[in-house]
Amino acid sequence: MLHENLSVNEKGHLCIAGSDTVELANRYGTPLMVMDEGRIRRNMRIYKDAMKKYFGESSYPLFASKSFSCKYIYRVAKEENTGIDLVSSGELYTAVSAGFDVKRSFLHGNNKTDADIKYAIDSGVGYFVVDNLTELDRIDEAAKEKGIIQSVILRLTPGVDPHTHAAVVTGRIDSKFGIAIETGQADTAVEYVLKKENVRLCGFHCHIGSQIFDIKPFCDAAEIMIKYISHVKEVFDYEIEILNLGGGFGVRYIDSQPELDYEEFIRLISIFIHNEVKRSGIKLPTVVMEPGRSIVADSCLTLYTVGGTKEIPGFKNYVSVDGGMPDNPRYALYQSDYTVCLASDMNREADFECTVAGRCCESGDLLQENVLLPKPVRGDILSVLVTGAYNYSMASNYNRIPRPAVVGIADSKDFVIIKRETFEDLIRNDM
Ligand code: LLP
Repeated sequence: MLHENLSVNEKGHLCIAGSDTVELANRYGTPLMVMDEGRIRRNMRIYKDAMKKYFGESSYPLFASKSFSCKYIYRVAKEENTGIDLVSSGELYTAVSAGFDVKRSFLHGNNKTDADIKYAIDSGVGYFVVDNLTELDRIDEAAKEKGIIQSVILRLTPGVDPHTHAAVVTGRIDSKFGIAIETGQADTAVEYVLKKENVRLCGFHCHIGSQIFDIKPFCDAAEIMIKYISHVKEVFDYEIEILNLGGGFGVRYIDSQPELDYEEFIRLISIFIHNEVKRSGIKLPTVVMEPGRSIVADSCLTLYTVGGTKEIPGFKNYVSVDGGMPDNPRYALYQSDYTVCLASDMNREADFECTVAGRCCESGDLLQENVLLPKPVRGDILSVLVTGAYNYSMASNYNRIPRPAVVGIADSKDFVIIKRETFEDLIRNDM
């Protein structure tokens, strides 16, 4: 099957990490997200081991928690000894609540409010990833007020185009994120930050985009960043310690996509880094990376109950399910590919071409178009695979639909990670 944690049992039911998804759907209700904890830990370890092997002992991955943020995932990250990438005070609050030591966190965001800056400094965030100089002024002031020297790294745009979906490209010069190297603005920023008394410039960051299968743009970006580090050493006589290369490795959602070998990708990137380090005579920085999707996406699937089918002769067929864009807006937003299967009858021939529709009052509420399934009937369990990243974290209550429950599987036992929202939850803040 698509990933090795998926299988089919003797009843013809889809299983994840050996657990029968139909039984889980019966027990917990649908829509239901099921996460294989072993897969999350395996993915984290691939990064941890490869980064140490190719960049040295001090290197480590940061889990990009925007892809899936809840207390549980920060506990797993803590146990696996990874760092975390945060992008809001809400994510920071969740991490702190889970007991994560936020010294190993990097706080992003292209518009950190004064309240965000204060909260992060009060919480002891390890590093601010500075996006612009106005925010740098505020961080410097807040650090002064607190009586600390705050570690910062500058987010730079290396000017690399990774050819992925336009909405998830971030490293081009015209990006809303970061400071461009090519325009000379990065030099201005370095000069500026080095004059500040309450912040310490520890490194540089870049992130070129997400769901990228090609290694070349990563190698290009790494090379540009290392060259820039040696340029800064030459021009400012200042050598930084941390190079944060962001996230972005692609994940297999459908059969025709490759399953990437992340260790091999890291090895290839490291060749460019080591060559450039040798050529320019700088010392090898601590390399950190921020994978999100490639840590959690393939650990998870979503289960839905089929409400029925609608056949429009000469046009198309629909299968309606009890979830949709509120729990997974990615097809509506980006026309993202997904594998859909009939979890309750995996062995029957998939000969019914259909569009899988959600239950929202909106024609664009689709989970996938033109898929082949065994023709389902009301009550069947349908599964969308590889839904661990940017599904729950992007979920909404559109049409006042409660968010699904998230259940974990570890050592063949299942447990609730996030409770299903109730109607009471929906009106909690209504006056
Ligand atoms: N670091 C930074 C600064 C980022 O902006 C991102 C993702 C990551 C790391 C993690 O990238 P990953 O390894 O997950 O590709 N909502 C979109 C994805 C947006 C990605 C935003 N930034 C989606 O559903 O495809």
